[in-house]
Amino acid sequence: MKSVVVNAYGGPEVLEIRNIEKPSPKLNEILIKIEATSITRASGMMREGTPYFGRLFTGITKPKVKTPGTDLAGIIEAVGKDVTRFKKGDKVIAETGLNCGAYAEYICLPDDAIIVHQPNNVSAVEATGIVDGACTALAFFTDQVQIKKGQKVLINGASGSIGTAAIQLAKEFGAEVTAVCSGKNRSLVLELGADNVYDYTKNELDKSTVTFDVVFDTVGKFSYAKTKKHMQVKGVFLTPVLTMKTLLTMLFVSPFSHKKLKFAATGLRKKDIQIRDLKKVKEMLSENKLRPVIDKMYSFNQIQEAHRYVDTGRKRGNVVIRMQQTKS
Ligand SMILES: NC(=O)c1ccc[n+]([C@@H]2O[C@H](COP(=O)([O-])OP(=O)(O)OC[C@H]3O[C@@H](n4cnc5c(N)ncnc54)[C@H](OP(=O)(O)O)[C@@H]3O)[C@@H](O)[C@H]2O)c1
Repeated sequence: MKSVVVNAYGGPEVLEIRNIEKPSPKLNEILIKIEATSITRASGMMREGTPYFGRLFTGITKPKVKTPGTDLAGIIEAVGKDVTRFKKGDKVIAETGLNCGAYAEYICLPDDAIIVHQPNNVSAVEATGIVDGACTALAFFTDQVQIKKGQKVLINGASGSIGTAAIQLAKEFGAEVTAVCSGKNRSLVLELGADNVYDYTKNELDKSTVTFDVVFDTVGKFSYAKTKKHMQVKGVFLTPVLTMKTLLTMLFVSPFSHKKLKFAATGLRKKDIQIRDLKKVKEMLSENKLRPVIDKMYSFNQIQEAHRYVDTGRKRGNVVIRMQQTKS
């Protein structure tokens, strides 16, 4: 089968497609024929080995896992004898986290991994596309804050993967949502349900005196210190991007203020909690409460190009690889 193999940290050129042996499922495993896999910002960072402290998990001098890729949708081709949750022919969505392995034609996963059945009303491309952003946003909105009906939520980076999901989730939880994006993405965020929009290229937020219960800086571009004036007295600032400044603020500033700064590495949480979130995302997809936003689709052979595009930091929603199976 074809699989990406990496032997070093670096740019997109380290992603080489090779022929390797197709895996066979152990007694408790399922063999998935991968139909689509998404290219996330995190996969770019794992490819580069940045930030450097991340290498404590991914390998100090070179990547521990040879095949990257953390999200996939596919069809079960075979199951081990002890598998009860799934059967041959089931369509599934899976998150592999730090074990990776999704940039390949096939993968074997234990049946108790982070896997759910794919809803019938979405394609493999849509299903895998939304998983990273939706599960991340959901994690922040359930573990870090509990949004109450009528609360004001500000979402920065609203046109990105986390942002497009966060708008829809915050609306679902009954919030009034203000999105921050550039002018070209204004109509997208309004279509997704945002009540108000600020254009960051025109510094429109700076001119506003509105204060928010929750500020979710999905792209790590806001400064907590500068944003405090836009937060209510007990407002919470959420960020999925850990910088030294964020860490120092969390340790030495936020604990002494009513206004809190919270970071979480959502993919490092317990497996049961991640399965809970993926099930919720699946449920919302099947009820048409979440709309996957797919910016671009690439073929497997174009994986380096896809990474180059995601590295720009300009994608709208999500970027997905649609696999074309070869004979193995
Ligand atoms: N902690 C965690 O568990 C976790 C999980 C997943 C991801 N992450 C991290 O979260 C971050 C965001 O991921 P993502 O996939 O959502 O990002 P993304 O999709 O790549 O974000 C791209 C979007 O951000 C917008 N943008 C760029 N600069 C902006 C700015 N200054 N202000 C407002 N919007 C801006 C771009 O719009 P324009 O082109 O209009 O600028 C683009 O639509 C990444 O750093 C990722 O590694 C963390």
